Amino acid sequence: MSRERIAVGETYREQALINNERYLDMYQRSIDSPETFWAEQAQRLNWRKPFTQVKDVSFAKEDLHIRWFEDGELNACENCLDRHLPERADQIALIWEPDEEGAEVVRYTYAQLHEEVCKLANGLKAMGVKKGDVVTIYLPMVPLISISMLACARIGAIHSVVFGGFSPEAIAGRIDDGHSRIVITADEGKRGGKSVPLKHNVDNALEHCQHSEVEKILVLRHTQGNIDWHEQRDVDLAELLKEQSPDCPAETMNAEDPLFILYTSGSTGKPKGVLHTTGGYLTYVSLSHETVFDYKAGETYWCMADIGWITGHSYAVYGPLANAATLVMYEGVPNYPDCGRMARLIEKHQINIVYTAPTAIRALMADGDTAVEGTDLSCIRILATAGEPINPEAWRWFHDKFGNNTAPILDTWWQTETGGMMITPMPGATDLKPGSATRPFFGVQPALMDNDGNEIQGAGEGSLVIKDSWPSQMRTIYGDHQRFIDTYFSTFENCYFSSDGAKRDEDGYYWITGRMDDVLNVAGHRMGTAEIESALVAHKTVAEAAVVGIPHDIKGQGIYVYATLAADVEASEELRKELRNWVRQEIGPIATPEAIQWAPGLPKTRSGKIMRRVLRKIACEEYDQLGDTSTLADPHVVDDLIAEHKALA
Ligand code: WT7
Repeated sequence: MSRERIAVGETYREQALINNERYLDMYQRSIDSPETFWAEQAQRLNWRKPFTQVKDVSFAKEDLHIRWFEDGELNACENCLDRHLPERADQIALIWEPDEEGAEVVRYTYAQLHEEVCKLANGLKAMGVKKGDVVTIYLPMVPLISISMLACARIGAIHSVVFGGFSPEAIAGRIDDGHSRIVITADEGKRGGKSVPLKHNVDNALEHCQHSEVEKILVLRHTQGNIDWHEQRDVDLAELLKEQSPDCPAETMNAEDPLFILYTSGSTGKPKGVLHTTGGYLTYVSLSHETVFDYKAGETYWCMADIGWITGHSYAVYGPLANAATLVMYEGVPNYPDCGRMARLIEKHQINIVYTAPTAIRALMADGDTAVEGTDLSCIRILATAGEPINPEAWRWFHDKFGNNTAPILDTWWQTETGGMMITPMPGATDLKPGSATRPFFGVQPALMDNDGNEIQGAGEGSLVIKDSWPSQMRTIYGDHQRFIDTYFSTFENCYFSSDGAKRDEDGYYWITGRMDDVLNVAGHRMGTAEIESALVAHKTVAEAAVVGIPHDIKGQGIYVYATLAADVEASEELRKELRNWVRQEIGPIATPEAIQWAPGLPKTRSGKIMRRVLRKIACEEYDQLGDTSTLADPHVVDDLIAEHKALA
């Protein structure tokens, strides 16, 4: 923990929506009387039928239930679009910057976005989509991705967005789990000058589905690339939309009706379908977008996260649109065609607020000052990051090069499960400490637990839990409520367990220390070791596999594989390559292993449990820190693994 403390700048304190006094007062009220606090905050939305109940929650595992505003009715899409029209129909809602620098920028006003959404909503209805149906969305970073989500919300369909970097196998699992009948995709995506064969991946996915119920694939002609076409099943989106009316009444939804499912990795089993509902989610992401980014009308805001992740859902779609913000969406990667693209993009669109990930900063930093050369970034007022801890070197570089040494860097801690930011600074209120996510957001009660399940008081380190519900909390794992209870509410009594560890310092600031389970964080992408291992053993040559995370300069963590080959299979460089490609193909390029080490045997306890701690230490060359290996069934495997690791290095 660094001792450095960066005081809130004068102008920020004076001009921000929330200063420290206000933060402390609102925070206290949000904890002392959550019902009054959230009933007030929910008034930022338009309710078709006002709620009379605010909160009905029990975290007890025998009686787990989480309900917010449960008798209220509203529509999320209407709150993001229609209600802004009387005053802001001609304001720019979305600025789309294509992958190819210099290619035509597309802008949508709120009125235009509303029209596109209504047409697609009608198109979906024409395809037979009804309230409660799950629609799978597999699209690149183009306006249609937001339009599709909002169109679903408008008619009460549940969207399930699958990140465009995932493989056919990964798509198939999600289509199956959600019983989706409709998929929205594009011919191809474009990222960093390369094409991504999205339609082809969906075609393949359908062959992998266990019980495909898919009836229609709506295809956006984006690059005009070559694709297979199945007359009965594939629908050209442009054709469909041509016939649709721009009027589509929004469905009345209950506050607790599902808004979306988003899959995320856990430590065991297949990815979990995190389910978020309507009223509480929208209230929370709207409030946090405004207060954390100190968003003021007229400002241009850019969330760099892909919409396929929760950061994109909450802070590139729902939060900012609920607040009538002007958003930038970028199709490509921040370092294409070179590392100056991000800075040029910010300057070109005069962006005031940038929300990014530490891994992107580290990637740019690797090229030194060239990332900002020749640009004037004085438009930047606020910088923020999410997804992983930001190391103090990256913090300082970003603050200096992009933030002109004045823009605060907000390190926001949260999760797919939490729906919105949980521990985060606010620009006018919070003194910053590089590397710390600082203090809880309104209504959030973090606590640290020791191994005996007792709460740690004052400064200390332990398991990070949240003691009471907040409105944007996930409600269940789609189709597996018991797994929801087991995963989050069974480790500590009456608490939500985040699976992260954290420290708290003398000032009450939180420092996230990382996952306590077998989940990796590779370039801000969350991945279960179990998922990668099961992909590996699905290859005919692999008998057993164990995956651990190793430190990586840019990605934060990299994937290190130990593979035990089946009898009679010979280890070779070609096989190493083949396995590497296999994992990319099974899960996606984000899961590409850094290294694959052959392991004649794996270190197991007598009960057969793999000792990952030992594997992690070997991969990091910390041979003298293996700890107690006396409980291993065969302690000699460790020597073999060390010898093999040395040979590989
Ligand atoms: C995991 C959640 C932030 C939403 C997008 C990622 C890690 C997230 C931070 C941070 C340190 C962080 C945690 C968490 N994480 N933000 N500011 N500092 N670690 O959501 O994919 O569900 O991943 O990301 O380990 O559990 P996600």
